[in-house]
Parts: sequence; structure tokens; C-alpha cells
Amino acid sequence: MSSILITGATGYIGSHLVARLVSQGERPRCLVRNINRATRVLPAGKLEFVAGDTTQPASLETAVQGVDTIVHAAFVTADRKEKSGSHYEETNVSGTANLVKAAKAAGVKRIVVLSGLGTKPGKAGSYMQGRYLAEQLVIDSGLNWTIIRPSVVFGKDAPFIKGLVDLIRSAPVLPLIGGGTTLFQPIYVEDVATIILKVLAEPERTARKVYTVGGPERYSFREIFDVLLKATGKKRPKVYAPTPLVTIGAAVMEAMLPKPPLTKAAMTLFSFDNITDINSVERDFGFQPQSFSRYLHEHKI
Ligand SMILES: NC(=O)c1ccc[n+]([C@@H]2O[C@H](COP(=O)([O-])OP(=O)(O)OC[C@H]3O[C@@H](n4cnc5c(N)ncnc54)[C@H](OP(=O)(O)O)[C@@H]3O)[C@@H](O)[C@H]2O)c1
Repeated sequence: MSSILITGATGYIGSHLVARLVSQGERPRCLVRNINRATRVLPAGKLEFVAGDTTQPASLETAVQGVDTIVHAAFVTADRKEKSGSHYEETNVSGTANLVKAAKAAGVKRIVVLSGLGTKPGKAGSYMQGRYLAEQLVIDSGLNWTIIRPSVVFGKDAPFIKGLVDLIRSAPVLPLIGGGTTLFQPIYVEDVATIILKVLAEPERTARKVYTVGGPERYSFREIFDVLLKATGKKRPKVYAPTPLVTIGAAVMEAMLPKPPLTKAAMTLFSFDNITDINSVERDFGFQPQSFSRYLHEHKI
């Protein structure tokens, strides 16, 4: 495979992608903010680390030299509270702009971006608008681009699922945000990695395409709780939680807690159904993705 730079390599999706590339005998270059931390998270010795931060343009110059393709997964996700050095706008929009600029200057040909299902224009300055602008920067970059928009991702320690399991373990009642009717189509992290590998292997077919990808089943938020309750063997009452009230609760938790269980940005995920065609992965990438409930059953979670 041509020379690849991965941003967000220490992240949930990035680290799974790096492991898969390494298992194929590749030696990807990884842009990381903290090499000590990266050495703990990634198979150091089997890849190349370059210290850098997408919000610091000068730090990107070395990282992009000699690179053919960038996989861009360095974003501040909606489940994270903004803090010093991790702002949605600064990282997701300016960071992407800096990366695109450095890539073009260094003659990089291609960029593959890990975005999110449902990305669309939002209010100025909002999390969603930042995600939308990041996509637009890439689409208008003149680079050969591909955007992958997964639904919520599951797998060992997946942030979305872990957050709900923690809630089941610790809370006496489970909040059905907006009635619990929002739909999700969870996709397995290894399947997302397979999709990225297929995109990397097929530059012409996947050029200038936005792929929305989800697993083989759709679940309402209520049903996700039901599946996780069954898997964990717990019993908890579920209560209707009006969206405006939960949004206020998220704002309060964000103001008071360093790692709030819910953020205002994450509430955006409950404002639309996080679904796509049920056969999106088979149609676009030729394989049947893992079932969420079967995964939980097989892994005895
Ligand atoms: N996980 C999901 O359920 C899911 C679902 C749908 C879409 N996605 C999308 O997939 C993408 C990756 O998500 P993820 O879950 O892998 O995220 P993640 O686990 O939060 O990882 C984010 C990565 O970005 C890096 N990063 C953050 N700010 C940076 C900066 N300024 N410069 C360089 N690196 C920076 C982090 O590095 P540090 O280690 O230094 O913090 C980390 O490696 C995101 O766009 C996300 O929205 C994820």
C-alpha cells in the first residue's frame, strides 16, 4: 500500500485501523499528540510516530512529507466535553483546514475522512456545523477525497456502548431520551476498519464519494437499553426523559464534571435517526457486517 498518514491513530477507530494495517505488514505513519501515550496504546516498533497536533500548522509539515494518502480521524467527538486544547471548532474545522493545507503543499494525493452519520449544516458555532464544515473543507480541497460516515460504533470498550453499560451499572433508572424512539444502526469497529481498508485499496472507485455505513440491524434507543440489560443480566426501570430537560441536565453536568456522562453536543445524536440503508455495507463494500446483538451474545457481555 502507498505511504499512509493516520491522524487520530490513538483514538477508538484509529487504533483499530492501525492494528489491522500492521497485521497486513504495513508500517503506517501516525500523527500523535503524545508519543509516550501513543506507545502505550499502539504497537510501537511496528509503525512510525510523528509528534503533531492538527491545531498547530507548523507541526504538520514533517508529518505529511512523502505521504500519498491521509486517513483523517483526529476529531473531538460529541461525547467529549470541550476543554483547553480540545475545542470542537478549533480541532474539527481549523485542524482539518490546517491538515488539508499542509497536505496540498506537500503533494499528498488523497484524504479519507472519518465523519459521522447525519452530518449536516447546523447553527453557527455548533458541533454539527463544525462537522459539516470539516467535510466541506475536504470536498473543496482539490485532493482526491472519500468521506465515511458511520452510525454509532460498537466493539470492546466502544465509547457509546461503554457509556450506556456504565449507566446501567450505576443508575437506578434509565432515561429514555425523547421517549427512546431515536433509531441507531450500530456498526462493529472491525467492520469500520475493514471499510477503511477497502477504501484505501480502491482509490478510483471510492473517489469523491460519501459512504454512510451502519450495521445489519436498527434499534431504537429503548431497544439498545433492552439488549444491554439482557446482556448484563440487570433489571432497571426506564423512564421517559423529555429532550429539553435532558439537554439542560447535560449542560449542568458539562459545567460541573470533568468527564460528564452526557454532553450538549451528544444530544445532537438524538435529534435525528442515526440510520442508513440496511444493506449499505454489503452494497458498497461486499461483506455482511457483524450483528450488534450477536456480538454481545458471543462475547458474553
Ligand atoms: N466511535 C464512534 O462511535 C464513532 C461513530 C461514528 C463516527 N465516528 C467518527 O470517527 C472519527 C474518530 O472517532 P473516534 O471514536 O476514533 O474518536 P476518539 O476515540 O475520540 O479519538 C480521537 C483521536 O483524535 C486525536 N486528536 C484529537 N484532537 C487532536 C488534535 N488537535 N491533533 C491531533 N490529534 C487529535 C486524539 O488524540 P489523543 O490520543 O492525543 O487525544 C485521538 O487519537 C470521529 O470523526 C468520529 O466522529 C466515531
